[in-house]
Amino acid sequence: MESGYRAAYDGWASNPEQFWAAAAEAIDWFTPIERVFDPDQGAYGRWYSGATTNTCYNCLDRHVERGRADQPAIICDSPITGTQTTYTYGALLEEVKTLSSVLQDLGVGRGDRVIIYMPMIAEAVMSMLACARLGAIHSVVFGGFAGHELATRIDDATPRVIIGASCGIEPNRIVPYKPMLDEAISLSEHKPEKCLILQREQHVAELDDARYVDMASAMQAARSEGRDVPCVAVEATDPLYILYTSGTTGQPKGVVRDNGGHMVALHWSMKAIYDVNPGEVFWAASDVGWVVGHSYIVYAPLLHGNTSIVFEGKPVGTPDAGTFWRVISEHKVAALFTAPTAFRAIKKEDPQGSLISKYDLSGFRTLFLAGERADPDTIEWAQEKLGVPVIDHWWQTETGWTIAGNPVGLGMLPVKLGSPTVAMPGYEICVLDDAGHAVEKGSLGNIVVKLPLPPGCLPTLWQAEERFHDAYLAEFPGYYKTADAGYVDEDDYLFIMARTDDIINVAGHRLSTGGMEEVIAYHRDVAECAVIGIADDLKGQIPAGFVVINSGVDRTNDEIEKEVIKLVRDQIGPVAAFKLVITVARLPKTRSGKILRGTMQKIADGQEWKMPATIDDPAILDEIADALASRGLKRA
Ligand code: COA
Ligand code: AMP
Repeated sequence: MESGYRAAYDGWASNPEQFWAAAAEAIDWFTPIERVFDPDQGAYGRWYSGATTNTCYNCLDRHVERGRADQPAIICDSPITGTQTTYTYGALLEEVKTLSSVLQDLGVGRGDRVIIYMPMIAEAVMSMLACARLGAIHSVVFGGFAGHELATRIDDATPRVIIGASCGIEPNRIVPYKPMLDEAISLSEHKPEKCLILQREQHVAELDDARYVDMASAMQAARSEGRDVPCVAVEATDPLYILYTSGTTGQPKGVVRDNGGHMVALHWSMKAIYDVNPGEVFWAASDVGWVVGHSYIVYAPLLHGNTSIVFEGKPVGTPDAGTFWRVISEHKVAALFTAPTAFRAIKKEDPQGSLISKYDLSGFRTLFLAGERADPDTIEWAQEKLGVPVIDHWWQTETGWTIAGNPVGLGMLPVKLGSPTVAMPGYEICVLDDAGHAVEKGSLGNIVVKLPLPPGCLPTLWQAEERFHDAYLAEFPGYYKTADAGYVDEDDYLFIMARTDDIINVAGHRLSTGGMEEVIAYHRDVAECAVIGIADDLKGQIPAGFVVINSGVDRTNDEIEKEVIKLVRDQIGPVAAFKLVITVARLPKTRSGKILRGTMQKIADGQEWKMPATIDDPAILDEIADALASRGLKRA
């Protein structure tokens, strides 16, 4: 059967407002939309102005009112603790109401910010939804970030309350959160009034100060009060959440997501892109700290009436490389969405896929991959071993949903390995040279999206309208800059080749090398440094730091390198996976003093490279190559 993609895309292109007005009918609005798109609001226009709504109402209440009360909403499967808990839509609504009343008592109301610093547990989802219910703006911080990163976010979001857990659990260790929270609060200028802490039995935190409130007791008290907390009507254009993501400096960007456009886009995507029907089980094996977790563990499945899996574990080691197959068969997962790195990890442990045959995967239809480039080897392996279509799709924290993909629900298009397929309705993708001229098909350039961005994409950065403009809109007027480079082929298939900034992608996690350099520069013995992302078979990329040590320092390189590694782990967090530091005598630079990071990376990855015309001293590149070779890394 021919795909309905072309008709859908052309329909959108010929009348975007009509397309998005039709999609908006799937959402319950408290007061109707006045303008589907208002070009005069915001930096590039705003969607669904005049309407009021509530995201929690659309995720929970309406499903309970319309017969889904007994359907599982979330299944929390934690191989790391050996527990499983299911919440039906009805039960989840009750928990969210209770938590909302606790938050209300802590003074949280419409427009207030709440930071959520929690592992993959039901309470993280409840906290997000309770904020949405009250019209408060949540900001989830990934548990793998350290206190310093949390402090940056506290100062930017200025939350009234932080909701945390006593610990996260990694396969090799328990991660107590309270010391990081304490450190963050002591570092930040802004102090949250209260911290609501969920105690986990694996590590109970001492709630030693009046700022800390025990979540279980507060919930118990609120439950016995039984107060009803209705959904607060918010503007469609009001922020639902802020999600911080790496920018080119240590100061992360606070991506803002609105309520109305977000719901419409995510709801539309569940059938059109992921091809799941309400009632089916959808699993995004990510973390609520990332955008994939926001969109596809929490909001999209619940908006659409699906059952979502909240998985606390890893693709390997919890307990083995068969965990994913167990979850799929046990919970009858119809579609799985994860990062390619998870499959590379499974493939490394179980290259024959022999654990797959232990499980009944007959209900499993499609595997979706995103978050980093999906290498053809991984796709082919997954296709062969699982016998289902493997769909790569490309998007960013900023967009919140697919820019380019293969819309299975509209009818699958042929897969081209290495390509996330084609632009989704809502996105006109162009490839421009640095001067802003369109390049020919097949030629590499800057990938941009013609404004306006569709519903669901960021309207701005949190209290940083100018930074939003400078980072995304200024370089190519009339377009949103994705900061990815790539090309479009003769069939309009997109190929994403590299970032155009200093962002690297480590195990599907987005990190700023500039941010790491800022941290390393604090080391008293480091004169200068450069961090680059080098290719890694498992994680896609890993960071490698090159440091030049001050003259006159009489400590060993090894000692200093270990300290630099510790500094990055302590300041940014273990998620940076920063484990490689190489001391060099000098760094290669242009005559104007710019460090040639791109050339260093090509040398490290064994790619072809050209001697930059502007290089100051070509001999330094040989020194870098020798330094890499001395660590067993490739050289060209
Ligand atoms: N809290 C605390 N620490 C965390 C953490 C969290 N939530 N998540 C990761 N870390 C730590 C890890 O324990 C590890 O620490 P270590 O250096 O002491 O070993 C470090 O951060 C790096 O973590 P990660 O990059 O996840 O590597 P890993 O070796 O633990 O696992 C994979 C490798 C490939 C199995 C894993 O990265 C994975 O499953 N990735 C899935 C990708 C994903 O979910 N991407 C999100 C976007 S879709
Ligand atoms: P994040 O904001 O963490 O989702 O990271 C977004 C970035 O990850 C993109 O700008 C790309 O560089 C990269 N990325 C995400 N998905 C893909 C994909 N399918 N193919 C290639 N790169 C991807």
